[in-house]
Amino acid sequence: MGEENHTQTASNGEVVSESNVKYYTIEEIKLHNMSKDTWLIIHDKVYDITSFLEEHPGGEEVLLEQAGADATESFEDVGHSTDAREMLEQYLIGELHMDDRKQESKTDVFNSTSGGESSVWTMWLVPALAAVVVGLMYRYYTLEHQSS
Ligand code: HEM
Repeated sequence: MGEENHTQTASNGEVVSESNVKYYTIEEIKLHNMSKDTWLIIHDKVYDITSFLEEHPGGEEVLLEQAGADATESFEDVGHSTDAREMLEQYLIGELHMDDRKQESKTDVFNSTSGGESSVWTMWLVPALAAVVVGLMYRYYTLEHQSS
């Protein structure tokens, strides 16, 4: 009891959890949509890229178009390099609030091995089917021997 990961909601809507990850609501993120204060959401993480605007090889315009919003799709569409993905980390300020995440990303968070479920099924289903087939063959042959 009392050991759960409590979250506290501050007056400005920010939610701080015990794991020290800061969660921002979409409402709060939307406010940071100008060139002197630019936040972006990429894969449910929140980045303050104000100081990166001028450095971006793809130009600041494309970043400003997405400012205060989810840029995951455009970021992925460009096919950014691993270097670009690593660069992201230095601008990380928190994560998107759970309530504002899309359904599929919610499952990502709670099931970090997403897709693992289906492999567990195949892992068990294949041997189970093989066992059934072997069982049926065994029955078939023993019955055949009995009748002859
Ligand atoms: C903070 C997030 C971002 C970082 C750290 C970042 C970083 C980079 C880097 C390092 C490159 C050079 C090529 C590479 O290494 O892949 C690049 C290129 C590019 N980026 Fe981004 N990027 C970000 C967000 C975005 C977004 C949201 C868009 C689109 C709306 C975008 C559009 C582009 C384009 C079009 C290029 C190609 C430029 C060219 O080759 O002429 N980037 N970005």
